[in-house]
Amino acid sequence: MTEPSLSFIQTADGSKTIYNPSVGENYHSINGALQESLHVFVKGGLAYFTQNSLNKNISILEVGFGTGLNFLLSSDYAEQHQINLQYTGIEAFPLPAEIIENTGYQEYLENKNSWDSFLNKYNESFSNSQEITSSCSLRIHGKPILEFETEEKFDIIYFDAFARNYQPEMWSLETITQACKFLKDKGIFVTYSVTGELKRALRSLGFDIQRPAGAAGKREMMRALLNKNNAL
Ligand SMILES: C[S@@+](CC[C@H](N)C(=O)[O-])C[C@H]1O[C@@H](n2cnc3c(N)ncnc32)[C@H](O)[C@@H]1O
Repeated sequence: MTEPSLSFIQTADGSKTIYNPSVGENYHSINGALQESLHVFVKGGLAYFTQNSLNKNISILEVGFGTGLNFLLSSDYAEQHQINLQYTGIEAFPLPAEIIENTGYQEYLENKNSWDSFLNKYNESFSNSQEITSSCSLRIHGKPILEFETEEKFDIIYFDAFARNYQPEMWSLETITQACKFLKDKGIFVTYSVTGELKRALRSLGFDIQRPAGAAGKREMMRALLNKNNAL
């Protein structure tokens, strides 16, 4: 590992996560990194959206790209369900590709080619959009979410910030408003955590809130639907 301050940790389902001592927090749930990613983001976000839409061209904006686990599993899902996926990640502190390589996440992918393609094109994806598979492109913006600007709007927002106790500013009304302004009408916002502050923020922005069962160790997750014109 080239970053001596980061260390790998095995989570309850056997998949690895990264511990960041300067934040004091892991990149994923200690109760299962793979399980959390599949449950909250792929099943609770992408699968839910596709099952409720005829659209086969889907765009995702992820806040907190990190290791790319949510991206890799979403890319796999897209390929299996004949979806064209345009994936955009926002990451304030990009991880080196060598660290991502050591996560071993290829083990969980149906399409092993996507892993090699992702690692090979990861650095370039910070400059322009890269075709990772025939059905999935990736662009990462290496900047904080509050500095991100685009004219584009997205179908789904994966909000995967460090927990509120460790990075409270990511859960403020200002940050949630900034992320949600990039959502299309009828789009959805998903995250692993439900707090009173988040519920109030999303309601004030015009979202309808759903709280499906959470990933391992969490009672609920957050899914919020934008059933009106996005005036943000
Ligand atoms: C919980 S981890 C994300 C895990 C990631 N989705 C994965 O699968 O590996 C939170 C991520 O948010 C990033 N981050 C922290 N502050 C940020 C900011 N202001 N804007 C965007 N990303 C930020 C961190 O560097 C970290 O990669």
